[in-house]
Amino acid sequence: MSDRFNTIAGWALFAGIIALGGGIVASKLFHSERPEPMGYAIAGVEAEGEGGASGPGLNTLLASADVAAGEKVFAKCVACHTINQGGANGIGPNLYATVGEAVAQGKAGFAFSDALKSKGGTWTFEALDHWLASPREFAPGTKMSFAGLSKPEDRANLIAYLNSQGSNLPLPAADAAPAAEGAANAAAPAEGANSAEPAATNEAAPASE
Ligand code: HEC
Repeated sequence: MSDRFNTIAGWALFAGIIALGGGIVASKLFHSERPEPMGYAIAGVEAEGEGGASGPGLNTLLASADVAAGEKVFAKCVACHTINQGGANGIGPNLYATVGEAVAQGKAGFAFSDALKSKGGTWTFEALDHWLASPREFAPGTKMSFAGLSKPEDRANLIAYLNSQGSNLPLPAADAAPAAEGAANAAAPAEGANSAEPAATNEAAPASE
């Protein structure tokens, strides 16, 4: 009887130790592993920043845009759009010379949605960039059912291609990038490796005043 009691007590004790140990292990596992960036990542919001503060701006991208690459991107549009002069309207309007044209003016009486008609303004490079990033966001309720192009480079190349089809507006000059240039200049004379660094910053300071 007492043997049995001892066995049961032993197991109970053992179970207690396991539970305690398990609890400690669990708390180590689950408590210390807090995710570094707290909160939830919201899809879409993240993507928008991509070309914003970090990447080069639209002007810079347009200044070095690749029209041939833009024509390839336009493959995503041909299901609904023609772009040749006098081309037929399809699901979407013909896009010849649309860059610089009034928004929702279209050709041959294409029936635009009220959402786009009420937008007003002209198709500037910026407006097109915004539109092509997310038609739905640019004109909520638009009937252009196209998700958008998330890559700023794709949009810039495409806009340059659209512009080459009947519009030929001058492309903007690249944005001046004083910060990047400064960094490049600072990096160039860094022959003396680490020891040159403080000297470089001191030199740079009076120059900017
Ligand atoms: C699924 C069909 C479809 C696809 C794909 C599509 N579009 Fe459209 N697009 C439309 C429709 C429909 C409209 C008219 C929108 C409205 O009235 O709200 C439109 C309107 C436009 C306009 C405005 C024209 C004007 O005269 O105001 C531009 C610019 C445009 N699309 C460019 C593009 C480009 C560039 C692509 C490829 C990246 C593309 N679209 C892909 C259907 C499409």
